[in-house]
Amino acid sequence: MTTALPNPLQQLTAAQLRQRTSAKWREFPADVLPMWVAEMDVLPAEPVQRALIGAIRAGDTGYAHGTGYAEALRDFASRRWGWEGLAVELTTVVPDVMLGVVEMLRLVTDPGDCVVVNSPVYPPFYAFVRSSGRRVVEAPLNGAHRVDLDALAAAFERAGRSGGRAAYLLCNPHNPTGTVHTATELAAVAALAAEHGVRVVADEIHAPLVLPGADFVPYLSVPGGDDGLSLMSASKGWNLAGLKAAVAVAGPRSAADLARVPEEVSHGVSHLGMIAHTAALRDGGDWLDALLAGLDRNRSRLAELLAEHLPTVGYRPPEATFLAWLDCTALGVDEGPAAEPGLVTLSVGAAAMFLQRAKVAVSAGAAFGSGGAGHIRLNYATSTELLTEGIRRMGRAARELD
Ligand SMILES: Cc1ncc(COP(=O)(O)O)c(C=O)c1O
Repeated sequence: MTTALPNPLQQLTAAQLRQRTSAKWREFPADVLPMWVAEMDVLPAEPVQRALIGAIRAGDTGYAHGTGYAEALRDFASRRWGWEGLAVELTTVVPDVMLGVVEMLRLVTDPGDCVVVNSPVYPPFYAFVRSSGRRVVEAPLNGAHRVDLDALAAAFERAGRSGGRAAYLLCNPHNPTGTVHTATELAAVAALAAEHGVRVVADEIHAPLVLPGADFVPYLSVPGGDDGLSLMSASKGWNLAGLKAAVAVAGPRSAADLARVPEEVSHGVSHLGMIAHTAALRDGGDWLDALLAGLDRNRSRLAELLAEHLPTVGYRPPEATFLAWLDCTALGVDEGPAAEPGLVTLSVGAAAMFLQRAKVAVSAGAAFGSGGAGHIRLNYATSTELLTEGIRRMGRAARELD
């Protein structure tokens, strides 16, 4: 991919990044290299900066209004994914993706009902589902990090047996493995969900971050996906998590459900968030291309670094996201007592060891549910220099274990 823009991952030094006040850079002391939470070490895309600075200068800091974000998303989906099916009238803005997930689950399930997830998966899928009074049922991914239809069918059956209505919270692309579900896989999922009367809610926040070699397929675009609900956002793709906004999108057969979202939900959206996300989707395509080229390079560089410094660690390069799911079981670090899935923690297993001995913060796999123990999740959305520094430090720590 040729691009006129410089690699956004190579523009900031560690000293500049340490000035930041966000979670990634402030959770740990300054001698810890943070490679955990999903923030990227980038400056905002120029069109995003321009839109935000313009809004601040003009005092355009009131309440969010209108469908501009959804229109920008519709046009982006058409340009990037060739998807013409996003209907602006079947969207609503939500404060962020996870709150949107909870609202969608409220539409299609009741308290006490079951929500199926593909473990290992983004820890808030457990925590948010549980705190909204629903029960989590796991359908583990297979050894190749792909949806296991037999496991999914078994989970759907279990969810159905417990009575009530059941939902499936799909992560597409999947965090932490970076799996991009194919059209064939998604159509099979839709057929299975229909067979079991399970409603599908798709978290598609990582959709803009599909790397060269894979293609994103929106869940709502596959045959049978038209009664699904999807959450989309520019938050991950352009590093805008602090500028809260996301869009919930209904398939045509979910229109009546989406219409039941309480009005106050849209009141939680940040107007500046909408401005930033809209600018990113409308005019941030070149920046995104430059970012994806940089992430693609880091994805390969990580394989080389691991081969050199942590040769026993398993790494299946992700098809999307800036997250690497690393199998550290061969390091033989004691996991300690089984951790509760959903609690974001760095204090068990290999993650705790790397934090203490290498001063590198990575996420502990146990928080991601079944299949997570013995693993860590590492965020490689940083400069090659910091990525190299992190893996070198981790390699030294692992060698000292011998
Ligand atoms: C799969 C997934 N969903 C949701 C979120 C959080 O999104 P938001 O901040 O919009 O709630 C993340 C953040 O990393 C994520 O990886």
